[in-house]
Amino acid sequence: MRNRSRFTLWSIGALLGMGLTLTADSGWAAATAPAPAGRVTFSEDVFPILQNRCLECHKTGAPGVAFSGLNLENYEGLMRGTRFGPVVIPGNAMVSNLNVLVEGRAGIRMPHNRKRLTTCEIEILRNWVNQGAKND
Ligand code: HEC
Repeated sequence: MRNRSRFTLWSIGALLGMGLTLTADSGWAAATAPAPAGRVTFSEDVFPILQNRCLECHKTGAPGVAFSGLNLENYEGLMRGTRFGPVVIPGNAMVSNLNVLVEGRAGIRMPHNRKRLTTCEIEILRNWVNQGAKND
């Protein structure tokens, strides 16, 4: 009996300790650079998604370009945005239309009339914008 309660106390102590470590770790990560695992680049992570899921309509001569002016054939086109203005605000995925539309936070969703992006693809686009939307 005595041994068992000591063991219980020890376990609770260990769990609390772990909790504190985890909290301290995430606090540190949030205060400094993004975790390496979440680091994404335009060429390796973002562009393949645009190619697979958006270019069909957002390349020269396609309807997405005709209606909005948004040409996703390259980084420059993405950053130029639509004829009404930019769709990427570097560092701020909350207000970037690219993210608003693929996440379904607006009246229209992209890809238009197609299957929505996977959670993973949505996160890649969000991380890339929040990490500064660089041409890397
Ligand atoms: C099947 C065709 C199609 C696909 C695929 C598609 N789009 Fe579009 N997109 C359109 C059309 C058409 C418009 C113009 C809609 C309008 O103005 O009502 C548009 C407009 C947009 C706009 C501008 C909306 C605005 O007026 O602010 C953004 C941003 C956008 N698309 C992003 C994307 C992204 C990112 C993808 C891929 C994940 C994608 N689209 C895939 C057809 C498509």
